[in-house]
Amino acid sequence: MEGDRQHPAPAAPPEEHLQLLLRRSREAKNCAYCPYSRFPVGAALLTASGEIFSGCNVENACYSLGVCAERTAIQKAISEGHTSFRAMAITSDMGDTFIVPCGACRQVMREFGTDWDVYLTKADGSYIVKRLEELLPLSFGPEDLKKV
Ligand code: THU
Repeated sequence: MEGDRQHPAPAAPPEEHLQLLLRRSREAKNCAYCPYSRFPVGAALLTASGEIFSGCNVENACYSLGVCAERTAIQKAISEGHTSFRAMAITSDMGDTFIVPCGACRQVMREFGTDWDVYLTKADGSYIVKRLEELLPLSFGPEDLKKV
């Protein structure tokens, strides 16, 4: 069964890469276009090749067309030719709560593997890290389409 597969977790990014990733997510938050929710979010995505793509939430007067920071970052990376990811950092202005990605973003992240790290931060910069597998257990992905 897919979920039983044993494989070593990829190494965490070196401390300096992690600090840069966290900083880039904070900087991206400053660009958030969120006049409706007034809830800015920034994300920064570290590719397997060591590049960082950041993103912010981009809302719209037609509310349902708003896009989360996480998906903005992923779409930027994919459209620049990167499909292999090591980690993402996510930042919001919430002081007492670690920002967590919405369900739609978890599924979009999962498209690109289940064994990468997501750093969930508070406004003071403290963080916890979760593997994608933890954020979206028993997930459906591209491999499943090959099973019929
Ligand atoms: N949002 C994100 O960009 N990422 C998250 O992890 C949670 C929510 C955005 C969507 C919307 O623009 C605003 O935050 C309020 O939901």
